[in-house]
Formats: sequence, C-alpha cells, structure tokens
Amino acid sequence: MEKTRKELREIIRSVKGYMRAQKAAGIEEFFLPRRQSLEGLSLEVAKCRQCPLYKTRKNPVFGQGNPRAHLVFVGEAPGRDEDLKGLAFVGRAGELLTKIIEAMGFKRSDVYICNVLKCRPPQNRNPLPSEIALCRAYLQQQLESINPKVICCLGKFACSALLNQDFPISKLRGKFQDYRGIKVMPTFHPAYLLRNPQAKRLVWEDMRKVMAELKK
Ligand code: URA
Repeated sequence: MEKTRKELREIIRSVKGYMRAQKAAGIEEFFLPRRQSLEGLSLEVAKCRQCPLYKTRKNPVFGQGNPRAHLVFVGEAPGRDEDLKGLAFVGRAGELLTKIIEAMGFKRSDVYICNVLKCRPPQNRNPLPSEIALCRAYLQQQLESINPKVICCLGKFACSALLNQDFPISKLRGKFQDYRGIKVMPTFHPAYLLRNPQAKRLVWEDMRKVMAELKK
C-alpha cells in the first residue's frame, strides 16, 4: 500500500513538472505526448495515399524486427523483392545485410530493419524529395517508438532523411552523428557493397564502432 502511494506521489510529481514545463514554453492546454504503437503505425502506412507510390506498389514495406531493438538499420526504399513480399531487405542487398548483422553477433530478429520510403519507387528509381518529405514522419514515429541506442543509416538517402545533411556518404561514414539524442552511424548501402566489394572493409570498421557503442 505504502509502495503504491509512493509510486502515485512520484507520478503526480512528474505530471506537475511536465505541466510546469509546458506552461513555461507558453503551452496552456494540457496534453500528453502520444506515442504511436508500431502496429498502429503499420496500419496507417498500409492505407497511406499521401504520395502516388501507393498506385504502383504491390505491398507497403513497413519494416520488421524487434520492436525494442537497441540497433535499427534504415535503408532507402523497397526494391522488387521487398515489394512482392512486404518485407524490408529480403533481396540480394538484404542477404548481404543479414551477413553483416550476423557477423556482428546478432540475428535479424534482434535488430529492427526499415526504410525511408515505405513503398517501392517504380523501376527502383531514387526516392524523390517530395516522397521523402511525406514519408519521413512514419520513420520518425517508428524510431520514437523503438527508441534504439544506435541507428545505422545505410546510404545517402537514409542519412539525408534523418540528418538533414547532404554530404556525400563517403565523407559522413564512420563518424557518429546525432538524431534527437540517438547515435547515428552512417555507412555504405549493401547494394553499393555488391557493386564495390572492396568497400566491405570500411563498413566492417563502422560496424565495429557500432558494436562498441552498444556495449557501453
Ligand atoms: N534496398 C533498400 O534500401 N531497402 C530494401 O528494403 C531493399 C533494398
């Protein structure tokens, strides 16, 4: 009983602190921040018609993995295999990503894997800025819900969507960045590694830094 009272007092204290902070920021109405569940969000994505990609997609690709993952991989957009199966990174680039994850000592189900765009661009063309701008809120809410320790951005589109930086990936990679207090490691996209296998060594250097950060 005493324990419950103590917990209640603690909750009241933090709600009062939250209200004071809202008031100090000039916000008079009281509202609690809404954390969208991953399931709820995926249902929203399934019926999304914000950009024209819904017309050509076979399946939306929300992302999959551990909803409490400490590590999230963010790619660019679904390709043909992903569009057919409704799952992220299940084609050739996905096989290579699986090898990277396993070399780090994890299973795919330990981490979370998703993309900036949830629908396949026709012929796997690059995402358009307008598509990224419209889809980014889904990614942001996914990350807010998972709240990982580290995000690994695969390629330039993931970096520009999360970091608002347009430096070439070759300049950004290997150096931790910040996304809303979460460490972000930019690295090369697995599809790039399929074309340039000599760059695998650099990605492995980046993954070692991620592993070290996760152990802290
Ligand atoms: N490339 C991506 O960026 N994402 C996928 O899901 C597959 C390939």
